[in-house]
Amino acid sequence: MNDLAPLLTPEGRALLDEVRDTDPARELAVATRLRREHPADLVSAALGQARLRQRAVAKFGAEDARRMFFTPNGVEQSTRASVAAYRARRFRELGVVSVADLCCGIGGDAIALARAGIRVLAVDRDPLTAAAARANADALGLADLIEVRQADVTEVDTAGHDAVFVDPARRGGRGRIFDPEAYSPPLSWAVEAARAAPRAAALKVAPGIPHEAVPADAEAEWISDGGDVKEAVLWFGAGQGAAVRATLLPGPRTLLSRGLPDPAVRPPGRYLYEPDGAVVRSHLVAEVAAELDGGLLDATIAYVTADEHRPTPYATAYELTDRLPFSVKKLKALLRERRVGTLTVKKRGSAVEPEELRRKVLPKPHGTESVTVFLTRVAGAPTMLLGHPVR
Ligand SMILES: C[S@@+](CC[C@H](N)C(=O)[O-])C[C@H]1O[C@@H](n2cnc3c(N)ncnc32)[C@H](O)[C@@H]1O
Repeated sequence: MNDLAPLLTPEGRALLDEVRDTDPARELAVATRLRREHPADLVSAALGQARLRQRAVAKFGAEDARRMFFTPNGVEQSTRASVAAYRARRFRELGVVSVADLCCGIGGDAIALARAGIRVLAVDRDPLTAAAARANADALGLADLIEVRQADVTEVDTAGHDAVFVDPARRGGRGRIFDPEAYSPPLSWAVEAARAAPRAAALKVAPGIPHEAVPADAEAEWISDGGDVKEAVLWFGAGQGAAVRATLLPGPRTLLSRGLPDPAVRPPGRYLYEPDGAVVRSHLVAEVAAELDGGLLDATIAYVTADEHRPTPYATAYELTDRLPFSVKKLKALLRERRVGTLTVKKRGSAVEPEELRRKVLPKPHGTESVTVFLTRVAGAPTMLLGHPVR
């Protein structure tokens, strides 16, 4: 079905309620029963929407997801609620009261902005996506704050809004798009729109954006949630100028660049620290190493080592127990000797496939001990470091 309208009728809504928790294994039987009383395309639209809502729970939480409307691309591309809420708070702290959300999708960001008390003009050129954004504003009681417009963002007048947010489409017919100029709209267009915003602007970009592509007048922020890097954002008018920032959610904990030189390389100490992905992507490993009084195991690898344990939100600490040159045979023997039952394999700077290694060295548990092995390089040499997380 290419239209949300039938699902928004009383019959459509009643069907949506009825199929809400349908077990995928029972879908066929449910569809057959419902088609006796309802049009077949409405039944399949309701079942399809129920499936999308289930997929959306991870991003929006069950409470909202079960009330919202999605398209397959819309679920995939939307900002998760935790990240959108954090960004909306930043806008709010900058004194922003109205945002033109250019490329609103099904409204992930628009919803968070409105919940932060910000008025939103939400624009998307895709009719079904814009209809979903409108239905979501209604369903969540935010229609007073969100005006949805179906239009091409390059033709929308944003005067009258004190901030701009652009989340360009980064997927094409052939999958993910890496070149920022191939985004829709292209990054250069979004940057111009951002610079024209009276108070502030934010552009959501892929976390893999090369640092050279960040405009000189933008603050670049990499955001992770629960340790997974979710996105990067380019901020204009955010007060920090050309800063670089790593933000970890929940929290938020935020680390700003101090322009430190690369940390020195040193031999492994008693502790190994694995920096959060947002720290690595934002190239702020030196800032974390300085906090830990640590150095790098290898000049090109983002593992920090130190002699002391200093708790930090920006890296996970492991206490090291063993250091071996890379050898499957030696690792296998050591795991047997230590009665290891669970092995976690982590790697940086190694081409070894963790799952394959685990199968080779620990085909079955020897006991109940848990061990983490880091496959990495120490001053250039392929090395295995064993340890366990510091509690
Ligand atoms: C990454 S999604 C936005 C997701 C949104 N921030 C959310 O959280 O739900 C990008 C959206 O941009 C829209 N889009 C791409 N080019 C556009 C253009 N030139 N004008 C308007 N919308 C556009 C696509 O239809 C798509 O829905």
